[in-house]
Amino acid sequence: MIVIKTTKELQNYLNGQKRDGKTIGFVPTMGALHEGHLSLIKKSMAETDITVCSIFVNPTQFNNISDLEKYPIKSAEDFKLLAQQNCTVLFMPSVLEMYPNGPIKNKEDYGNITKVFEGEKRPGHFDGVITVVSLFLEIIKPNKTFFGQKDYQQCLVVKNLISKKFPEISLFIEPTLRNENGLALSSRNAHLLKNELTEAEAVSKALFSIKLNWGLNTIEQLVENARNIINEKKSLKIEYLNICNLNDLSVLSGNSSSYNEAVVLTAVFCGEVRLIDNLIVYK
Ligand code: PAF
Repeated sequence: MIVIKTTKELQNYLNGQKRDGKTIGFVPTMGALHEGHLSLIKKSMAETDITVCSIFVNPTQFNNISDLEKYPIKSAEDFKLLAQQNCTVLFMPSVLEMYPNGPIKNKEDYGNITKVFEGEKRPGHFDGVITVVSLFLEIIKPNKTFFGQKDYQQCLVVKNLISKKFPEISLFIEPTLRNENGLALSSRNAHLLKNELTEAEAVSKALFSIKLNWGLNTIEQLVENARNIINEKKSLKIEYLNICNLNDLSVLSGNSSSYNEAVVLTAVFCGEVRLIDNLIVYK
């Protein structure tokens, strides 16, 4: 695996590979890698000749400085995991390399999908994501890029960004990986205490209860039942839990049987740790 820290060096390398007819896959990450990230690397390795994984803790997508400061940095472990996967390139730019004029985020209008849920709770978050993903896609110009469904709203935003500004790039959205008890894998799980880790499993149980009863109850009943499953656990506090339209994230109501499919989106505090999860439900 080659480790590259500057844009110029990365572009020189990739231009050579592209001249030789090689296809490029890109997996953006903020490090603290787990099996979920590795599944994206594996997919990219299977789909393209050269896989570039970026590790960059992007300051412009944190609306809260203490969240940025607490973000886990595990460079040595990450390097080892990527090397084991035979990832071709690890791109680790500095903040100055990515933002030579300072960490400024672009403000482009992607409508409601950037304003609700994560957009509402973390103002400016998606402006930062759109800014950094655009920068990476402009630098790397990959054929294919790979994101995890765990961040459903982010995937939707990136899907819109790509269709508007990078239609030549194919976006792959890979399923969320879960532990044996259903908890969605996330870098933040490392911050959970042992009892919180067990209680956090109620989040996915709540989501799967909706999937199981889809078409049998009203949306309001499904949401209430799911909320009750989570509220039974002392360390959990729901920030939002809604059943939404898959494409515009408008909140659905009424008989679930009148919808062929939907996405359940939730954010739940487990102690101090904010977890997000989602599940697509269908008839
Ligand atoms: O999902 C993430 O880890 C980040 O939002 C991303 C896509 C790497 C952009 O910084």
